[in-house]
Amino acid sequence: MKVLVTGGMGYIGSHTCIALHEAGITPVIYDNLSNASARVLDQLEKITGTRFEFILGDIQDEQQFKLALKHTKAEAVFHFAALKAVGESTEQPLRYYQNNVSGTLSMLQSMQEADVNHIIFSSSATVYGEPDYLPIDEKHPIRATNPYGWTKVMVEQAMQDVCNANSKFMGIALRYFNPVGAHPSGLLGESPNGIPNNLMPFIAQTAVGKRDVVNIFGDDYDTEDGTGVRDYIHVLDLAKGHVAAFMQHKTDTAFHAYNLGTGQGYSVLDMINAFSASANKDIPYKSAPRRAGDIACNYADATKAQNTLNWHAELTLSDMTNDTWRWQTNYPSGLES
Ligand code: NAD
Ligand code: WQD
Repeated sequence: MKVLVTGGMGYIGSHTCIALHEAGITPVIYDNLSNASARVLDQLEKITGTRFEFILGDIQDEQQFKLALKHTKAEAVFHFAALKAVGESTEQPLRYYQNNVSGTLSMLQSMQEADVNHIIFSSSATVYGEPDYLPIDEKHPIRATNPYGWTKVMVEQAMQDVCNANSKFMGIALRYFNPVGAHPSGLLGESPNGIPNNLMPFIAQTAVGKRDVVNIFGDDYDTEDGTGVRDYIHVLDLAKGHVAAFMQHKTDTAFHAYNLGTGQGYSVLDMINAFSASANKDIPYKSAPRRAGDIACNYADATKAQNTLNWHAELTLSDMTNDTWRWQTNYPSGLES
């Protein structure tokens, strides 16, 4: 069986292509390379022994996307393609709505016309906004606090509405908590452009000497050590969650949403200490003001995924930091270096 993977050259999409391949499903990658290196294909080939089919294309190009669906005879779409920087989304909201929302609406239109009725969408825990309670389950109210978050809320709503209107349609929204880690081969990982927004790549770049010091955004939160707590999940576990969700629902219809997290929260200091142990060196850090829009604490109730998909995260914090460190030391400036 073939599936089309939008954004399959990116961080999470590329790891999911490996998991799909391992499950006997053939991924065909559809990506415009706006935030990925063409060398990811070589790395995927080194890891899997297979050269995946790649289509250079934009999800906003409805005609090309429909042709890709027909040409590949894909039976489902795994939809990772999106812009994802929260801060940038507040500065360039229309670019985010255009790419993430309009792009997905075009895709949904093409899918209906090509009679491809299954979509697995990269949503985010950001759809819960400031938590009313912890751990967060899927019944928690949905809201967003920035344009990026709204794009996820809007796409989920559009998917639900298409499922309601089309009895053949099946949509799954996977709400990721904080994806981190890299492939254990050290050949594939996350390499953000410029200064990383997210904690783990910032720590990794500091450990390798590319940054001087990790700024801890707030040390006076109401948490055990005063720093922000998040549910970090290894990208390999996340990738397997996609396969589990697809296998469970592939003959199904309607809309389904799942949290993909570990259920375990770690603080910023926990992350720095764990990384320090993996890298076997001290990582300089200092306190800095809170980052606007940040919440104190966030972690998942992932029982629904456990009970329905028979999936749970298996990898530990040291797997996350060891694998990131291996990737970071192999490719300190990403694949283009
Ligand atoms: P990424 O930037 O590494 O991957 C996204 C890929 O999509 C890139 O390869 C990019 O070139 C491609 N792309 C973007 N716009 C496109 C378009 N219009 N047409 C075709 N290709 C396009 O990001 P990632 O971290 O792998 O994230 C994947 C998905 O998961 C995104 O939807 C993101 O919003 C979501 N997500 C990510 C995180 C995270 O922390 N990384 C957390 C929650 C949800
Ligand atoms: C984690 C913790 C920071 C950087 C973001 C998006 C979310 C999702 C995942 C896509 C927080 C602290 C960070 C640094 C720090 N993305 N921190 N110094 O904010 O939980 O989630 O990425 O869907 O939508 O908002 O992740 O990695 O940025 O921050 O102290 O240099 O690390 O304050 O407590 P976040 P993060």
